[in-house]
Amino acid sequence: MTTAILSALPEEQAGLLAHLQQPRRVEHAGRAFWWGSLHGQPVVLALSGIGKVAAATTATALIERFGVARIVFTGVAGGVGEGVRVGDVVVAHDYVQHDMDVSPLFERWQVPGYPGVRLPCDAGLSAHLFRAVSACLAGDGASFYENSDGTPPRLHRGLMASGDRFVTCAQVSRALREPLVAAGHDVLAVEMEGAAVAQVCLDYGVPFAAMRTISDRADDDAHVDFPVFIQTVASRYADHIVRHLLESL
Ligand code: ADE
Repeated sequence: MTTAILSALPEEQAGLLAHLQQPRRVEHAGRAFWWGSLHGQPVVLALSGIGKVAAATTATALIERFGVARIVFTGVAGGVGEGVRVGDVVVAHDYVQHDMDVSPLFERWQVPGYPGVRLPCDAGLSAHLFRAVSACLAGDGASFYENSDGTPPRLHRGLMASGDRFVTCAQVSRALREPLVAAGHDVLAVEMEGAAVAQVCLDYGVPFAAMRTISDRADDDAHVDFPVFIQTVASRYADHIVRHLLESL
């Protein structure tokens, strides 16, 4: 049972690659895939690429070409939910594509051909991932990021939104979140790939789970917070959480 570990950015993948045993690089669809063994489990490591289409291509290749049995996504996101702060971690319960709109033919945000607005993650794999994040935050992870008020990072579970836009403005963030919340979809974080991978995994019946560390608040400071966080914190989270997860599978 090979597990695919998808990362959004090279900085997030670097720590995983450093620990990969018997690494073998395979180039496919213009992407690098890394076969190997990580913490005793067969894995393929890949970069999702940026945006929904790139991530869908990578997920499809992982399933069709590499025959992976499950896909786990680790990355960063902008926090939009109340109380979701930089340094916190969100495990996705489900996903919405915030830039999908075929209304009035379909409900706003619904991808035609799928039962509802929300694309669910796999419950069992997500529960494993949730426990892995909890274990990380209860251990070394507690010190990876310290809020200005000295409180440790918190773990959330809920809805994430993906779309082909890096959100760097509080007004755009509100315009994205408020209609979703009003329709009963209380979105916690925004990123650019997860919903596409969730959709591909639903098509193929492959279990999918995702966790995102909050690198910014998707507001006017996002372009400053994001690169600093990527360099200093995100890779350490990914490394530790994936270790806890693979040891528990
Ligand atoms: N990933 C991390 N921060 C983000 C943001 N503000 N918008 C979209 N994707 C992100």
